[in-house]
Amino acid sequence: MTRQRYHIRTFGCQMNIADSQQYSSVLKNYGMEESDNASECDIVLVNTCVVRGKAEEKAISYFGELEVLRRRRPELRYILAGCLAPRVEILELKRRFPGLLFAFNPSEIDNFQNLLKKHLDNAKTSPEALACETKKDKELDLIAEDICQFKYHAFVTIVRGCEQNCTYCIVPFSRGANFSRPQDEIIHEIESRVEKGARAITLLGQSILDYGKDWSTSKSIKTIHGDEIFRNLLDSVSSQFPHIWIKFLTSHPKDFSFETVDLIASRENITRFIHLPVQSGDNSILKRMGRGHTREDYLKLTDCIANKIPDVRLSSDIIVGFPGETDESYEQSLDLIRRVRFFKVFTFQYSPRPYTPALKFSDDVPFEEKRVRLNRLIDLQNQITMECHKELEGSEIVAMVEGASRGDDDTWMARSRDEDIIIFDNHDNIKAGDIILLKIIEGKLRTLRGELIRRLY
Ligand code: 5AD
Ligand code: SF4
Repeated sequence: MTRQRYHIRTFGCQMNIADSQQYSSVLKNYGMEESDNASECDIVLVNTCVVRGKAEEKAISYFGELEVLRRRRPELRYILAGCLAPRVEILELKRRFPGLLFAFNPSEIDNFQNLLKKHLDNAKTSPEALACETKKDKELDLIAEDICQFKYHAFVTIVRGCEQNCTYCIVPFSRGANFSRPQDEIIHEIESRVEKGARAITLLGQSILDYGKDWSTSKSIKTIHGDEIFRNLLDSVSSQFPHIWIKFLTSHPKDFSFETVDLIASRENITRFIHLPVQSGDNSILKRMGRGHTREDYLKLTDCIANKIPDVRLSSDIIVGFPGETDESYEQSLDLIRRVRFFKVFTFQYSPRPYTPALKFSDDVPFEEKRVRLNRLIDLQNQITMECHKELEGSEIVAMVEGASRGDDDTWMARSRDEDIIIFDNHDNIKAGDIILLKIIEGKLRTLRGELIRRLY
């Protein structure tokens, strides 16, 4: 009997990538085989993102592509997962895209297995595949293990949802209220991933410093600034797993405490890559964005981090063209980038999103102007990133091997505790998951070129 095949297409953030791993385990558990090629599949799971209008359009147009594939392969069905799901009128979408099997919300992720079974049973697809019995938990674990890409670097969601009030952002509406997992459950998951080979763990949450605040029923604790419960978790995880690199995403700057800076500085196994979205360098825009911090607060925090953690790699998200952004306020963002000297900045053109409070402001920066601002900002940041990478030339960096590079040459790729991506020639039969020491010989824009010194473990 040939096994049914599935393909997962993931749009958007790290959180979605982690969720896709979980979906993949369930589909494998159902007896299906993963494929890179949607056109040979029976099931395609589309994990969507709606943070920006463009991401949403891409997902919808991908459904269109799947309908074209279905002309040749009518048995192909697809599932809508991720943040678009709660927003769509499912019957309406099914009318447009008849191959759509079902849609489900990100908050239902733990129920995916049941939903899948129910819908496949109803659809009466290939009786052989349906005969595949749901395997026991033990076998499910084995399946998670063979998703090689994530075997050595595991992503563990610790808090779902977001309760911040950023006025431009749809996430609080699409992902809903915070739900923090109990600490012992998280530790247990990390233990099991480490037993199976993980050497780096990334703790995930849209607003990770809110971890645990939802355990309180008191509104004042839920909205309190600070990161105490997260810091306790980071402290426990990093001391219980001293040989594992502990990374985390994403921190809201208004909650990042100086105590957490001290904790990171004092632990060798915690990443020095700190993603700290600022969104704008201008106080009036920050206020309109509902960010709860000023430019000065942000600079005070990043100065403190740079002093206590000299090898930090700060990274950020910046939006250009938010309603009311003048030339002067935009210049403030450029100036902040120059002052902080981020390693990396993810840049976005403002895109008005349904339900968001910012809809009440007029989207007054013309599209062309947003594009010009975005390009200038990218040019400036590229220059800084290049300088930061050049400064690493000659240094030695420890990194974990991820595998062969994606390009067509014979090089391999490794990632450091601090998210440096290092390309090297693998003459020594180095394998994925190995921890190696490299000498940096050239800093490029996106990567570093390194020479293998030796395998460490
Ligand atoms: N327009 C543009 N960028 C946005 N982001 C979130 N919402 C919007 C929007 N409406 C960006 C923010 C956030 C990142 C994940 O996406 O910078 O940090
Ligand atoms: Fe959106 Fe703000 Fe929550 Fe980030 S912190 S997901 S930008 S609302």
